[in-house]
Amino acid sequence: MELLDGQLVSRTIKEGLRLKVAQLTAEGRKVPHLAAVLVGNNGASETYVGAKVKACAEIGFKSTLVRLDDDISENKLLGIIDDLNDDPDVDGILVQLPLPKHISDEKVINTIHPSKDVDGFHPVNVGKMVQGLPTFISATPHGILLMLEHYKINTKGKHAVVVGRSNIVGRPMSILLSSNTPTGNCTVTICHSHTHNLAEICRQADIIVAALGRPEFVKADMVKEGAIVIDVGITRVPDSTRKSGFALKGDVKFDEVAPRCSYITPVPGGVGPMTIAALMKNTFLACEERNGATQI
Ligand code: GUN
Repeated sequence: MELLDGQLVSRTIKEGLRLKVAQLTAEGRKVPHLAAVLVGNNGASETYVGAKVKACAEIGFKSTLVRLDDDISENKLLGIIDDLNDDPDVDGILVQLPLPKHISDEKVINTIHPSKDVDGFHPVNVGKMVQGLPTFISATPHGILLMLEHYKINTKGKHAVVVGRSNIVGRPMSILLSSNTPTGNCTVTICHSHTHNLAEICRQADIIVAALGRPEFVKADMVKEGAIVIDVGITRVPDSTRKSGFALKGDVKFDEVAPRCSYITPVPGGVGPMTIAALMKNTFLACEERNGATQI
C-alpha cells in the first residue's frame, strides 16, 4: 500500500507556480489576483478560505478576502460579485459554499463571469468540461486528477466507482474519469443515496472515489484487494480529547481499508491540499488568459 501524499504533491505544484510568479514579477508583469468571498462564519469554511488565502501568499499571488455578514441580502452579494467581475485587477473569484439558506447558490454561481470562475462551477465552464474543451475544472476533481498524474497511476480501462453525485465533486469526477484523457478512459459507475447494492458495486471497483460526506462510510468489506481509494470526505466529528473539540474524518474507514489498497489518500493531507493546488493553478491560468499567454 502506498499513501497518496497530497501535501507533498501540492507543495511541488505550488513551488512550480511560485517560480512562475517570481518570473512575472522580475519582468514587471501583473501577478495573479484571487478574490475570495466568505459569507458568515461557518468554522469549516473559515478554515478552507484561510488556507486558500495562505496558499496565495506562499506563491506570490495577490488575494483579497471579502468577508460578509450572514444576513447580507442576495442582491447585495450579487452586486459585490458584479463589482469583482468589473475589476480589471481581479483574475479569479470564488464564493465559498455553502451559503446561507436565503441566498441561491445557483444565482451566485451564474453571476460570476465564466472567465473569472476559477472554481469551474459556472454552467458554461461545466459544459466545456463535459465536452472536453479547455476550461476551469473544479478544484477537487482537478486536484484528484493531478494526484493520479503525479503518481503515474494508469486509469485506462479501469472500473471507477464514484460515490456521491454533487455538482462540486461526484458529477464532474465521473465525467473526467470517463473522458478520453491520460487520467481518464475509465468505465465509471456513479452511486448515490438511491443506489441498490452499493457495497457490491464498490467491491467491483478498481478505483473508488468516496465523496458522499458520511464519515467512515466505506469499510474494508466494500473494497477489492489492490483497489485505489480516493477519500474526498472531511467531516468534523466531536472529539473531547482534542483541543479543537473535533477530529477530521474522511468518508473511508482508513485503518481497516488501507491494508487492502494499492494506493489510498489520507485524511487530512490527501485530497484537501490538492484542491488548493488545483485552485491556484486555475487562478494562474485565469491571469494568463486575461493578460495574454505570453505571460510565462
Ligand atoms: N465548498 C466546498 N468545496 C468548495 C470549493 O471547491 N469551492 C467553493 N467555492 N466552495 C466549496
